[in-house]
Parts: sequence; structure tokens; C-alpha cells
Amino acid sequence: MKNIKAIIFDAYGTLFDVNSAAEKCKDKIGDKWEGFANFWRTTQLEYTWLRSLMKRHKDFWQITEDSLDKSMRAFKIDPSMKNELLNLYKVLSPFKEVPETLKILKEKNFKLAILSNGTPSLLNQLVKSNNLNNLFDDLFSIEEVGVYKPDSKVYDLPIRKYEIKKSEVAFLSANTWDVSGGGNYGFNAIWVNRNNNIFDNLDYKPNNEIKNLSEIIDII
Ligand code: LAC
Repeated sequence: MKNIKAIIFDAYGTLFDVNSAAEKCKDKIGDKWEGFANFWRTTQLEYTWLRSLMKRHKDFWQITEDSLDKSMRAFKIDPSMKNELLNLYKVLSPFKEVPETLKILKEKNFKLAILSNGTPSLLNQLVKSNNLNNLFDDLFSIEEVGVYKPDSKVYDLPIRKYEIKKSEVAFLSANTWDVSGGGNYGFNAIWVNRNNNIFDNLDYKPNNEIKNLSEIIDII
């Protein structure tokens, strides 16, 4: 991959482990914690797509709470756990290789940014609580355009700010549909496939698939 000027990361599921909130409560939730965490994530994403299609925008924090309410009912989780789960979602843990990999990339002088569905304040809190705030040039939030990924207006945000070509961006996501979105837009989209998943049939196949974030260093 040549002439890369900016490395843009998806946040939820790519840098930060979306299951870590429910996992930290697994003693209280029991064995169903993982099924519950996956259902919560899937419902949350469905709500982003549906709200964009219906043109009834609500921000990602409201969607996270709405999808949590449904998921707690579906999995019969005690309602008293709601605030604990939401508070943990604000400070999700990064995957273990993330801090070191970001530091190495920063030293190589790439522009580093997050491009995410999250609100500006959620993204700020996430990076600050994990001591990653000094590593990013920008935290791009879809709130600036009022529509969720994979609308091309979202992927336009770093292109507009940095005045670079789409082909000069390496875009990393663990979410296959987000890789398809960024790839169809024109980014060099790289799939972070930690769990040996199957890719989508959505008109884009990434040239690069990595098992964890640190492998990016050998590609760029
Ligand atoms: C994000 C979601 C897609 O961070 O994970 O934008």
C-alpha cells in the first residue's frame, strides 16, 4: 500500500471492545452475557441504519440506550443493571494491541483519526479514559453530517478536512459492512478480522485482511 497519508479507524468493535461492558458484568448476568452483548450490538447497529433510512436521527448515545432497553427485555436482565451497563459503555476497553500500535504509527507521522458513529463527547471520553487522547489528530463524528455509516457523507469528513485523495487513506474497521462502505467509497479499506469471520457480498472485497491491529505496521 503506497502513498498513504492518513490512517482512519472505526471506533466501536475496531479499537474498542463493544462486548467489554457486558463482560465486566458477567458475574451478575451469567452465561448469557455474550449472547446478550451480541444482541445489544446488533440491535444498536440496526437502529442506526433504520433511523438513517427513516430520516429520524437520534444520536448514538440515545440509540445505545434504546437498543439496551430492548436487549435487557429480550434476555430478561434485571432492570437495575441498566445504569451500570451504560456507564461501562462510556469507558469501553481497547483491544490489547491498540495503544502500542497507535504509538508506533504516530511516530511514523501519519495523520491518525477516528471516524465513528459515536457522538463527539462519547469519543472524547473513550479516548481520554484509555489515555489515547494524545495520539489522534481528529475524532470525526457522524453528528457533523447527521446520518450514520455507511452514508458516503460520513466517509467524506476526513477527505474534506485533510484535502487528500481517497486513495491516500487507509481505513480500518472490524465491521465488515463498514469495510464495504469505506471501500466502495474509495478508501483502501482494511478488514480487522479478529474472530475468523466471513466477509460480506456488498461489491467490495478488501485487499488486506489482518488478524489484529498491529499487523497494519507491515502493510503501510
Ligand atoms: C463506529 C461503529 C460502526 O464506531 O462501530 O462507527
